Amino acid sequence: MTVVSRPDGLADAARLIRQGGLVAFPTETVYGLGADASNPEAVASIFQAKGRPSDNPLIVHIADAGMWPTFARGIDNRALSLAERFWPGPLTIVLPRTGATPGIVTAGLDTVGVRMPAHPLALSLIRESCRALAAPSANRSGRPSPTTAQAVLDDMDGVIPMILDGGPCPVGVESTVLDMSRTPPVVLRPGGVTVEALRELLPDAAIDPSALSPPVDGRKAASPGIAHRHYAPNIPLTVVIGSRYSSKLPQLYDDTLSSGGTPILLLSDESSEAFAPRRCIPLGPYNDPARISSRLFNALRELDNSGATVAFAESFPAEGAGLALMNRLLRAAGFSVIHSD
Ligand code: TXA
Ligand code: MG
Repeated sequence: MTVVSRPDGLADAARLIRQGGLVAFPTETVYGLGADASNPEAVASIFQAKGRPSDNPLIVHIADAGMWPTFARGIDNRALSLAERFWPGPLTIVLPRTGATPGIVTAGLDTVGVRMPAHPLALSLIRESCRALAAPSANRSGRPSPTTAQAVLDDMDGVIPMILDGGPCPVGVESTVLDMSRTPPVVLRPGGVTVEALRELLPDAAIDPSALSPPVDGRKAASPGIAHRHYAPNIPLTVVIGSRYSSKLPQLYDDTLSSGGTPILLLSDESSEAFAPRRCIPLGPYNDPARISSRLFNALRELDNSGATVAFAESFPAEGAGLALMNRLLRAAGFSVIHSD
């Protein structure tokens, strides 16, 4: 395994992609695990490396809107104006797929998700390899998405040949997945582009109920990835829902201690001061959910090495960037929640 930083690794990485190999690369959201989207065998090896269920489709990453019609059909004016406004950036647009899109990329679905990432290294890799990249997040299936090259290495050492190191990912949560193949359009996964920003162009955009609720058995998920276990730390995590500075969080912490457990808290900066000296991982200012999101996946990984036996997290308003934040936090907790009031 080679971890290389720009620009020395780029030519080698592009060659690997053209030869059907896998390369982990930075995007503005999280690190992706890329393969040539037009090569079914290369794409199959992504599923193998991640241990990813074969029913979970991959996003196709492009560097130029001209590559889009190779994979998607029905690119109408609404889709074009979304791309103009939000690309490059954390928006994945789902449309019917073309015959040229290998079925393994879309896990057999007749739609395909496409996005143009806003990271110079991702764009250079696509251009230099002359290939669109099918790429999921570069974590082992079920683990928090990697926002640093080190996190990729922790999950994938010995499994993939190369990581391009572009430093920490600035957004830190994955792209918003928007299904434009349906009327009205539906946000399948909240992410780096807020629903409020989308609705400036698409006032009728709906939000899939799975954004903040557990998968319902028997209902076929609109986005198969939603149904799988996600972002899980290795210790139990519970989200405490309710008013700010509720006494519930310190109480749960103190009760765990007195019954012989080793607790840790995931908190806003303000709460970590208010609940000191209890052990916590501060995530950022309460009123800055985008900043908290950018720290979340790393914090979930820190839990694993913390020596704690149980974790409790503060909750945040599920608006603006807070929707993606709560979506990830609730999934990481397997929807284990306690209501404080
Ligand atoms: O920000 C991101 O989107 C990152 C970076 C690497 O680009 N990628 C990422 O990929 O998060 P992944 O595979 O971890 O998540 C892709 C999500 C899954 O929930 C999947 O089910 C959904 O997108 N998805 C992909 N294609 C779809 C389709 N055709 N229809 C519905 N959902 C789709
Ligand atoms: Mg993922």
